[in-house]
Amino acid sequence: MNLEERIAAVEAQIKDAAATTADAVEAFRVDMLGRNGKVTGLLDELKQVPVEQKKLWGQRLNQLKNSAKDRWEELQAGAGTANTSQQEAGDGTRPALTESTGSLHPISIVRQRIVDVFTRIGYTVSQGPEVEDDHHNFGALNFPPDHPARDMQDTFFVRPISCSSEVENANEALALRTHTSSVQVRVMESGKPPIRTISPGRVYRNEAISARAHCMFHQVEGLYVDKGVSFAELKGTLDHFAKSLFGPEVKIRLRPSYFPFTEPSAEVDMSCTICGGGGCAVCKHSGWVEIMGCGMVDPAVLSNCNIDPDIYSGFAFGMGVERIAQLIYRVPDLRLYWENDVRFLDQFTDGAFRG
Ligand code: PHE
Repeated sequence: MNLEERIAAVEAQIKDAAATTADAVEAFRVDMLGRNGKVTGLLDELKQVPVEQKKLWGQRLNQLKNSAKDRWEELQAGAGTANTSQQEAGDGTRPALTESTGSLHPISIVRQRIVDVFTRIGYTVSQGPEVEDDHHNFGALNFPPDHPARDMQDTFFVRPISCSSEVENANEALALRTHTSSVQVRVMESGKPPIRTISPGRVYRNEAISARAHCMFHQVEGLYVDKGVSFAELKGTLDHFAKSLFGPEVKIRLRPSYFPFTEPSAEVDMSCTICGGGGCAVCKHSGWVEIMGCGMVDPAVLSNCNIDPDIYSGFAFGMGVERIAQLIYRVPDLRLYWENDVRFLDQFTDGAFRG
């Protein structure tokens, strides 16, 4: 090894040196700067260097000596701190540090509360894929081919039909599911009535993100299929749900609506829990807030899923978890839910928002 290589090797050792005790720090000093130390040895070699190169090598070796001294000082400081903290760790009178505990996300809390209401009355919980084919998200649910929801403007396509000519299922588009009704189709296709199930999960719609809308949100949808299921049972179930979650004094009302997969269909309003029905900003002074969509499963949907509509009938409903959470927590901006700011999330630690 030539001189430069030997200097570089010692330099690397200095850089990597570690010492946690005072003895180890002293050992480092002796090893580098002591009478027979590595740095001292290299400095001695300066005598043999030709005169015209002395200045250059002198500077280089001085640099090395300084870095050894600097590192020695750093190690001394480090070992000093380690010693003090060791002493402190031994102080039994020192107050303990409190551990911060994690908490459930507010949307998880609300989803769980919704799920609990239905599992208590005999519903099972079903899950399905978030990337869904056209059949389960739209086709089996009676969406006509030209329905606006099938447009790029409203749905995130993972594989639009036009791109899929060379793959299996060439005529099936793949998209992020726009509702968890897709899970209900899967349950009906794979099981026999009686079916009583809810499907909680994430859904996606091509919306601009704002304080009131997001392109990803959560739903809990429900399905009940059996012989002789009636609209009155649907209304009774939803009334039970609203009262279980918001208290015995709340009322619901159903307004006629339209969904491709239910007939008749309705929008469900609940008396405003903020003002008790008297009128406020949250209910836009109407006394009512919309909480979900529902209806009797369209016989065509039952047929699509191999269930005989002459024997069976059913109802379905679907709600947005964020919407229900808004009625409980009144968070002013929906985006706060997904920014994961601990100062926001911390407020839900014990399941009760203190805002
Ligand atoms: N799938 C509907 C939606 O996403 C909700 C719904 C479910 C309506 C079941 C009626 C019956 O808006």
